[in-house]
Amino acid sequence: MAARITRRSLGTVAGLAALGAAAGTAGAQPDSTSRDRTARDFPEGFLWGTATSSYQIEGAVNEDGRGPSVWDSFSHTPGKIRSNHTGDVANDHYHRFKEDVQLMKALGVRAYRFSIAWPRVFPQGTGAPNPKGLDFYSRLVDELLANGIEPIPTLYHWDLPQALQDRGGWESPDTPRAFADYAGYTAARLSDRVGRFFTLNEMAAFIELGYALGIHAPGLKLPPARVNQARHHAVLAHGLGVQAIRAAARAGTRVGPAENISICVPVIETPEHIRAAELATRETNAGYMTVMMEGLYTNGFLAAAGADAPKFTAEELAIIASPVDFVGVNIYVPTRYVRAIDGPPGFAEVPFSRTHPKMELDWLRVGPEAMYWGPRHLSRIWGAKEIHVTENGCSAADQPAPDGTVYDTDRVMYLRSYLTQLQRATAEGVPVRGYFLWSLMDNFEWAEGYESRFGLHHVDFATQKRTPKLSAAFYREVIARNRVM
Ligand code: NOJ
Repeated sequence: MAARITRRSLGTVAGLAALGAAAGTAGAQPDSTSRDRTARDFPEGFLWGTATSSYQIEGAVNEDGRGPSVWDSFSHTPGKIRSNHTGDVANDHYHRFKEDVQLMKALGVRAYRFSIAWPRVFPQGTGAPNPKGLDFYSRLVDELLANGIEPIPTLYHWDLPQALQDRGGWESPDTPRAFADYAGYTAARLSDRVGRFFTLNEMAAFIELGYALGIHAPGLKLPPARVNQARHHAVLAHGLGVQAIRAAARAGTRVGPAENISICVPVIETPEHIRAAELATRETNAGYMTVMMEGLYTNGFLAAAGADAPKFTAEELAIIASPVDFVGVNIYVPTRYVRAIDGPPGFAEVPFSRTHPKMELDWLRVGPEAMYWGPRHLSRIWGAKEIHVTENGCSAADQPAPDGTVYDTDRVMYLRSYLTQLQRATAEGVPVRGYFLWSLMDNFEWAEGYESRFGLHHVDFATQKRTPKLSAAFYREVIARNRVM
């Protein structure tokens, strides 16, 4: 398809950027003032953003006193990552962050969700801080603010200091406390310019993939009791982190998680199936979002875990459920449910069929309804008052055309369908306030290395050249017009 699009019809890469920028600014003026609101509009002030994470883009793993993380160790273990790729250089963002901020500026995003590498700030996880490490993020924050982009850091996006892993990692009760100390220290130093922080990214992913399935760092395949304890420590770290940030940061600093809940979509949108999907949401997220929102492990979770249940105290449950200012949720794939009439638990999962559409990775099943039901469940089940979609996007079989542009129409189609469902949620009054597209640019996709590309910008990893894809032009229009295009 790309080959049939000529330079004349869409322009060169530079031409494409110019076309988008011109259409965006020219279109935005009359749109935002005189146009009638239509069914595709997002609420005024909607926070459009992009997202990345430290180990996936920064590189510079040995610079300015950074300590090793579990992902350095894991990626340097042969056979763990596709093509044995590592994050040693990644997108070289550590040296190119100013250029990357300009990419964001050209998109018109109002906010950027990045993560802070704990081993840059505390190379040994605890003990002596490394001021040069935090300094990098301080400069990034300044650069973002100078370009009118709100910096919203995530304090943990999976790069645990290796020194802490050597002392048990998330299995150790000391790790949540070390996280809180690091979170408080960091928030105290950035909150003069940063008003919102996310605590941990996707606890469900780094625990399940790293401690149960062994396919992410630290590569463990632990028995259920130990996985449950590691889970408990992750949610406890979130709660302790919330409290530490509140205690250390400037008054009014706001904080919440960035979790990937299992999003239970009712296959048929009738009250009984919706009810089943709500019950399923509470139970399938019992070890993560449910305990964070309710301060309890459900009876279903405890019964299923039996003797393998985590050890916990009532005081810890209260800490885990520390009130948050907003809830962040990463949305990619739904799980689908119907009501089950043959007794408890009252819901049944409907598996994906062999022909269900998916994107470039096997797990990336297409299910735009997740974008409606995820936020709606957060609001209806747990009363969340401010919700941010902290990630959404896809990898696709991106190939630059002869003119250098990636005409990623699959991604455009995917984004349009998900954003349509997000708009539906906002139109029905679900309090979704922000959306952070994953990702600003192609980057180190964990065990998939650099071969899975999620970016709005194509990255040539040999030259570090960033080139906007067609999806970047699409997203720029969405932002400029504040509506699904
Ligand atoms: C979730 C993770 O937070 C992010 O690091 C990852 O790259 C994307 N999903 C895509 O898999």
